[in-house]
Amino acid sequence: MSKTKTAPGGASGASTSAKSAAPSAAPSADLKEVGSLEAKDSRTGTTYPMKIVQGGVEGDTVVRAMDLRQIKASAGEFGLMTYDPAFMNTASCKSAITFIDGDKGILRYRGYPIEQLAERATFLEVAWLLRNGELPTQQEYNQWVNEITFHTYVHENIKSFLQGFRYDAHPMSMLCSTVAALSSFYPEAKNIQDPGQRHISIIRLLAKVPTLAAFCYRHIKGLPFIYPDNDLSYVENFLSMIARMSEPKYEANPVFVKALEVLFILHADHEQNCSTSAVRAVGSSQVDPFSAIAAGVAALYGPLHGGANEQVLRMINEIGHPKNVPGFIDDVKSGKGHRLMGFGHRVYKSYDPRAKIVKRLADEVFAQIGMDKDLEIALELERIALSDDYFVSRKLYPNVDFYTGLIYRSMAFPTDFFTVLFAVARTAGWLAQWEEMLNDKEQKIARPRQIYVGYGERPYRSTLTERFPATSKDVLRK
Ligand code: CMC
Repeated sequence: MSKTKTAPGGASGASTSAKSAAPSAAPSADLKEVGSLEAKDSRTGTTYPMKIVQGGVEGDTVVRAMDLRQIKASAGEFGLMTYDPAFMNTASCKSAITFIDGDKGILRYRGYPIEQLAERATFLEVAWLLRNGELPTQQEYNQWVNEITFHTYVHENIKSFLQGFRYDAHPMSMLCSTVAALSSFYPEAKNIQDPGQRHISIIRLLAKVPTLAAFCYRHIKGLPFIYPDNDLSYVENFLSMIARMSEPKYEANPVFVKALEVLFILHADHEQNCSTSAVRAVGSSQVDPFSAIAAGVAALYGPLHGGANEQVLRMINEIGHPKNVPGFIDDVKSGKGHRLMGFGHRVYKSYDPRAKIVKRLADEVFAQIGMDKDLEIALELERIALSDDYFVSRKLYPNVDFYTGLIYRSMAFPTDFFTVLFAVARTAGWLAQWEEMLNDKEQKIARPRQIYVGYGERPYRSTLTERFPATSKDVLRK
């Protein structure tokens, strides 16, 4: 006979319909109950009612995984867990920062469509918006820009630290290490519960990551470091630290400034991607934000994530000519070659709205400074892939990284620097997500479960013949 228990949290089974709110209504962090689910355990015949809850008006509907814990075949059992490698179907947090509808190709920061922000906002305005939830007043904006501008200098010791890297060190390794090293310069940043410390750490990271990034660039180029110029805008100053030579005042190409500002906005946040999840997971141990952001840089470095922009250019170089594209696509499809880099996305299954903006931006940049020599290969790759059943049936479309590399190259950035540009922009999103995580009373240290598939208990019996093996010196002597 089936008996009905009530799940923790006491789901009554009554369904409460989600009220539609006006688009401008202030969002609530509460999860609304919108229905119920009954799970029947065939082992015991017990039925468990669970709440179906939804975040906001557009948020996904979910059940709380902890509600499954009460489902046990016997009293001593742990209870059911979910198994979800790569978090394909698991919400790890509530967030009010970025909204993505992958089927419709929608991306919004705090409710504002990415297209509008890319066209009209500045990067620092977007960084404020991501952190604070609303657009800044003029006074707030001025103070924000002022604070960030006057924290762009890094401690002189950072220069000697950077000098320790080899001339051909990858700039992402250098950036990751130097961001982590900043933690040692600001030990008070550990006081993450102090809003004042949190604020100054956020300002320092937004201000100093471009400086560190530019210093990494100058190091691999064997050029002297250029100090920040506080008269310039965020993007102009970054370009000045990258490109200035003997001129007393650097004047950036306005086309490049505009392009980089837009690219920074497009890359500023993207909800719970690999690097943001890394920042949240590491930050949940209550470590200082410099260490947490360094974890984000490390995750971004990978070729399946931010590192894809670098790989797209390497792939295009390898293809070499538009006539080689069909053969390359065949290799991708047969699994002989690599993946088609810059294609596909875990969330976007119709198109990546950022890719559309980047493609338009590329046209604008190339119209001003001349066509990139490999654009033809990229266009041919896109044309063939978009009409090929392999890509169409798997919903693989160009993502944001497909065209960014061509723009960065036309601005004369070296290929292995592309992901650094992504990291500079994403720092804004990582910081907003990190602070949101700290303010979320439901968050605890990130600690996933596992399904153990190894041996059961067995007795230790050594297979060694010598307890203290020969040293390598002895081996060499033999
Ligand atoms: N080229 C060829 N096949 C692909 C590709 C690709 N780029 N992406 C996915 N597939 C295939 C994959 O082999 C699989 O096929 P099958 O079902 O036959 O096994 C199917 O499509 C689903 O792939 P998946 O690996 O389950 O998809 P995912 O959601 O886990 O991976 C992704 C998403 C972005 C890691 C993947 O599409 C990829 O590796 N793309 C290339 C790297 C890239 O451009 N990354 C940048 C992402 S956007 C910037 C960012 O936010 O980081």
